[in-house]
Amino acid sequence: MSSPSPVDEIDEAKEREHFRAVVNAFKYYKLCSLDRIHKSEKIISTLLPTHQRRLEKYTTYLTKFKKCLDVNNTIVHMIIKDVDTMFENVDHSMDGVNGTESFGCDYNACEMISQKQHKMQHDVEKVQSVLKNIVRDWSSVGAPEREQCYKPILDEIEALYSMEEYSERRGVKVLVPGAGLGRLAWEVAARGFTCQGNEFSLFMLFASNFVLNRCPEANKYTVHPWLHQYVNNLTCDHQLQSVTFPDVRPARDKPADSFSMTAGDFLKVYTEPEEWSCVATCFFIDCAPNVIEFIERIYSILQPGGYWINLGPLLYHYSDMPTENSIEPPYDILLEIIRDVGFDIMKERTGVKTKYAQNPNSMMQHEYSSVYFVCRKPYC
Ligand SMILES: C[S@@+](CC[C@H](N)C(=O)[O-])C[C@H]1O[C@@H](n2cnc3c(N)ncnc32)[C@H](O)[C@@H]1O
Repeated sequence: MSSPSPVDEIDEAKEREHFRAVVNAFKYYKLCSLDRIHKSEKIISTLLPTHQRRLEKYTTYLTKFKKCLDVNNTIVHMIIKDVDTMFENVDHSMDGVNGTESFGCDYNACEMISQKQHKMQHDVEKVQSVLKNIVRDWSSVGAPEREQCYKPILDEIEALYSMEEYSERRGVKVLVPGAGLGRLAWEVAARGFTCQGNEFSLFMLFASNFVLNRCPEANKYTVHPWLHQYVNNLTCDHQLQSVTFPDVRPARDKPADSFSMTAGDFLKVYTEPEEWSCVATCFFIDCAPNVIEFIERIYSILQPGGYWINLGPLLYHYSDMPTENSIEPPYDILLEIIRDVGFDIMKERTGVKTKYAQNPNSMMQHEYSSVYFVCRKPYC
């Protein structure tokens, strides 16, 4: 057996460091979020007594926020319980995630401005986003969003591979890259297809592991997903709103061995040509610095006659990152590229109204006019 090269060792060390940073973000979620509540309390305490009196009701709510934060923190800790051994081949338990050695984030420390703390704050915001993604994928509150985003894809897959023509649906292999918390991939598998979700964010992977493998009962758990949204609230109760999850029993009703999730970069994990019957992408293709790489790879891994179904906007994620070489072709150019790569475009729609992890009570609502298309890789 050959020993790992220095490059492999550096990559592994970086991976371990990243793993530890993500686990730490979950661990410090409460302290850093509490810091924001304390900031409001502190500001109120410096106001004129008359103003303080006028804010008494709001101050009472701030106390309630802390109780909700405890509820969220319980879930956050459940999510990271056992993640050390989540990826079968790597044990992270000795990576130093258990102590506070690398980042003492009591709230005084959170007030100190340093690069490390900015990164921690940024990572904690990702934990807060994970709570909203739980609502999108695994709660009844997220059902309208899933109706907009996942149903068109699920209906298409069912129509393309109808029961009449494909009585053995297990033979149809569907890949969902950028699977987020896994609901779309789970729904595809629940319809009898073989489906694999792929995701590279550890924040998402930790949370999907919890929901998919450790939630045998429906609506057993509660989160307060909008607790960290301090603006555009109609009422204090909206900010405190609780949402139960999961709306189904993902761990118990798991579609046997026809469902799986893989961890890693789509471009690195999927290199085998002509492996998949269908690739379904939802809010994903704009996650590439160079979208052409995604399109070419989807084409290459599809079997001849295979389908690519896509829904989402073109919110190119790397666009505003100064250190990234991002290209952002608009949709008309993208369609030309898709044809040029070799796909036949079977269906194509613009203006598809879709939301992404929206707070339904917020005074601000982001809505995308997404594109939807179905392409086919021709037989040679
Ligand atoms: C906008 S989210 C959409 C998630 C899910 N499809 C949905 O509709 O809720 C995009 C997801 O793709 C993941 N992602 C981005 N680039 C990826 C890559 N190269 N390989 C695997 N996953 C990736 C991100 O981590 C993120 O979870």
